[in-house]
Amino acid sequence: MDRKKITIVGAGNIGSTLALLLARRETADITLIDINEGIAKGKALDIMEASPILGFNAHVVGTGNYEDTANSDVVVITAGFPRKPGMSRDDLLFKNFEVVKSVSEQIKKYSPNAFVIVVTNPLDVMTYTALKVTGFPKEKVLGMAGALDAARFAYFISEKTKISVENIRAFVIGGHGDDMVPLKNYTTISGVPVTKFLSEEELNKIIERTRFGGGEIVQLLKTGSAFYAPAAAILEMVISILWNKRKIIPCSVYLDGEIGEYYGASGLCVGVPIVLGRNGVEEIIKLDLSEEEWQQWKKSVESVKRLVEKLHL
Ligand code: NAI
Ligand code: 2OP
Repeated sequence: MDRKKITIVGAGNIGSTLALLLARRETADITLIDINEGIAKGKALDIMEASPILGFNAHVVGTGNYEDTANSDVVVITAGFPRKPGMSRDDLLFKNFEVVKSVSEQIKKYSPNAFVIVVTNPLDVMTYTALKVTGFPKEKVLGMAGALDAARFAYFISEKTKISVENIRAFVIGGHGDDMVPLKNYTTISGVPVTKFLSEEELNKIIERTRFGGGEIVQLLKTGSAFYAPAAAILEMVISILWNKRKIIPCSVYLDGEIGEYYGASGLCVGVPIVLGRNGVEEIIKLDLSEEEWQQWKKSVESVKRLVEKLHL
């Protein structure tokens, strides 16, 4: 049987880390594509040269030509620009919009049956852009953010309680911004509510740290943003789709009346818990929110809506 094919658009920090993680798991053959063709080719070759030592048989190729991405099963979009000094959030929005729009046109042309996982920021709006431009079914276009934000939340809980990360199930919904909504009421340690292990004050500190988790890494790195944990989060999503694991993972997906208007959010992409399997979004899990969480959710959805409206898509 032919191996599956995954294209990663953008061979930068996240794209190349993801290529290595996917190859090590022999998940699929991988095509790395970048406007800087040399970067894509060089990183692909470097990864292949590690294969005899690490012992994987997946093939990784680099290219600057979309014809080489044809008939991919999954396309991950990491292409884009980071925010630079002097650039407003809006400047970044419009610049990355142009990138994701042109990438999505190529995906539509060369891989019309692919699942699309968007990573480029601002995440929820870029996911919406990919959905609109490809015209793919809403079940097949997803944004990665909740998996990462929940992993950060889980790690901070593990660090504080000194209980294994394997026992911690953390939940974060809403947009991928400073007003994301970490849900302490749905966060457990081996099924036991996290509130049994940590005081309200301790948990609130962890929630604040989670909200600014991306910024914390940027402040330390200075030259870019996080990439190991983001790549791991994308890996989890790709595997859940290709191996039909049907994991429950918070992802940014399109919400409309048909799947069910989700707490007043409709006509945009935002992070909600879904069952992720061979059909992509197989189910959206509705949660009962406390009054506080409900207010936070509304605020987060409003932030995403404001950005979407700027694009006139
Ligand atoms: P990076 O700067 O290391 O890599 C981006 C790559 O995209 C570069 O190699 C660049 O040449 C390429 N590129 C730019 N325009 C392109 C185009 N039109 N076609 C093909 N390639 C193009 O950035 P990194 O660290 O890999 O991050 C990628 C994106 O992911 C950023 O927008 C970042 O903000 C976002 N991000 C999202 C997270 C999430 O949770 N969704 C978490 C962390 C980062
Ligand atoms: C992160 O959360 C910057 O979105 C990026 O690390």
